[in-house]
Amino acid sequence: METTDETRLAEALTAIDAACDLDALEVQRVAALGKAGWVSGLLKTLGGMSPDERQVAGPRIQGMRAAVADAIEAKRQALEAAALDAQLAAETLDLSLPAPQAPKGSIHPVSRVMDELAEIFADMGFSVATGPEIEDDWHNFTALNMPESHPARAMHDTFYFPDEGPQVAGERTRMVLRTHTSPVQIRSMVAQGAPLRIIAPGRVYRSDSDATHTPMFHQVEGLVIDEGIHLGHLKWTLETFLKAFFERDDIVLRLRPSYFPFTEPSVEVDVGWQDVGGRRVLGGHGDAAGHGWMELLGSGMVNRRVIEFAGLDPDRWQGFAFGVGVDRLAMLKYGMDDLRAFFDGDGRWLAHYGFDPLDVPTLSAGVGAKA
Ligand code: PHE
Repeated sequence: METTDETRLAEALTAIDAACDLDALEVQRVAALGKAGWVSGLLKTLGGMSPDERQVAGPRIQGMRAAVADAIEAKRQALEAAALDAQLAAETLDLSLPAPQAPKGSIHPVSRVMDELAEIFADMGFSVATGPEIEDDWHNFTALNMPESHPARAMHDTFYFPDEGPQVAGERTRMVLRTHTSPVQIRSMVAQGAPLRIIAPGRVYRSDSDATHTPMFHQVEGLVIDEGIHLGHLKWTLETFLKAFFERDDIVLRLRPSYFPFTEPSVEVDVGWQDVGGRRVLGGHGDAAGHGWMELLGSGMVNRRVIEFAGLDPDRWQGFAFGVGVDRLAMLKYGMDDLRAFFDGDGRWLAHYGFDPLDVPTLSAGVGAKA
């Protein structure tokens, strides 16, 4: 009897050790420890034994049960480890493989330049303001000191909406596609009061079309309102901005008297350029040999009537304003020569002139795009 059990145990341990997978191991477990298993059968015989017999047979049978259970557990762990090893071997990752090339979009030059402007002016304490592109006549013209029938209105080739617009400042006004970003001057002064330092980049519209004019283009407006503001502040601000934007310390400005209804005095600003291998490159004094001046932007001291229209006291608050074409700034800095291509949506043009979305302009790293 004992020999038979010992033999059985030895056979069972051999079979457990030989199990090639978890299913085969389970068959061995049921055969030994299952309800009808031989170890279970032996355990049942203990009940019919005398206490003396049980004292001898008990530990022996329990010992066999433990030996079988331990062997099964050990084998189970070994099989699971082997299965994991096999899986790891089969699913090897080759980290040296190049990642699949996902098509990457690019940042349009207009967006890029607007980001550069925001970065430069933020450093001088300006925040970014916006206004509607569908503007009323009052904000686009009247409050900017261009009353109805003012000849300056004709200079703008305005797109008018056919219907009458809402009541603004006590009068019914027509709606227009804004012809410049200057109405944001009025909106900002009315909404925020003084003092004020804003830039307002955005789309503007004029009925005009050739290689350097498109019916829609972009401007950025600048406005500073404070006490004791004078032309010197305007000149310093524009100089600091243009040096940072074009990343050249030799930017020279020439201020020429001009006329805008909403500024007094008004100043047209030219930038000196030099001929470098047949190309006009900004920098240097425009009067030097081989140099010239290029008209860049309009500006001036805010007309006191405009400050009044916006509800502020012109005896206390003064300011300067300027407006410049964003597309034009982009063309000058990044070398495109046809404005119309900016808005064609041609993927090849965008791939060539667009910017890496991860190359974010910062003053510390230089606002210019990486080559
Ligand atoms: N709004 C003017 C234009 O579009 C530019 C400008 C803005 C001039 C602010 C002076 C001051 O031509």
